[in-house]
Amino acid sequence: MKKRPIRGPLFEVRHSPIHGYGVFALRRIRKGTTVTEYLGDRVSHAEADARYENKSADDNHTFLFTVDSKIVIDGGVGGNDARFINHACDPNCESATAGKRVFIEAIRTIQPGEELAYDYQIQRDAGDPPDVDAIFACRCGSPKCRGSMLEPKRKAKAGRKAPRKSVRKGAEAAGKRKAAARGKRPARVARGAARKPKRTRSGGR
Ligand SMILES: C[S@@+](CC[C@H](N)C(=O)[O-])C[C@H]1O[C@@H](n2cnc3c(N)ncnc32)[C@H](O)[C@@H]1O
Ligand SMILES: [Zn+2]
Repeated sequence: MKKRPIRGPLFEVRHSPIHGYGVFALRRIRKGTTVTEYLGDRVSHAEADARYENKSADDNHTFLFTVDSKIVIDGGVGGNDARFINHACDPNCESATAGKRVFIEAIRTIQPGEELAYDYQIQRDAGDPPDVDAIFACRCGSPKCRGSMLEPKRKAKAGRKAPRKSVRKGAEAAGKRKAAARGKRPARVARGAARKPKRTRSGGR
């Protein structure tokens, strides 16, 4: 009988030049491989906001992942290594949902040692403070870096003037900034219908 080769983990968690900890390939990961599932406590948006309501206005750190309008996954509670995957503007992975579960999938072949990343595309909201891009500044280091972990700004339609954003000051601005930072979390990049993951491989620790 033909023996299957015993293969080690697909990735490991270690310090990242992008931010804090990151996830790095230990072996070649083929395009299309479902690398891992984003796990954690599944809560409502209200519960997610309540959990982190005391976060400072300038703190952009989050382990929350928006599944849809009702469900948020809190990777900080009962989460796995997927919570350490950083954002990049020219990423090698993307997130995909299947049956309200979130999977991280390689969108190109990844070589051993490469850091895994996906585009968080954090949603912009009407009430965002003017410095929201600075709060969510991106440090991915790619030549294609757009400078922000937020989704790209939508272009104003031809013939229509974009509404001017008012600059708020003092307590009102602080409140807005805090609310903006609290409610922001990566979400699945909507690209057509949710696909079924092909292969789920476990990693590091
Ligand atoms: C899901 S965690 C990723 C793991 C994180 N590096 C850690 O050590 O906890 C997401 C947070 O990491 C930081 N982060 C991830 N990608 C980043 C990037 N490209 N630029 C700046 N900060 C980033 C942000 O604070 C973000 O909210
Ligand atoms: Zn970037």
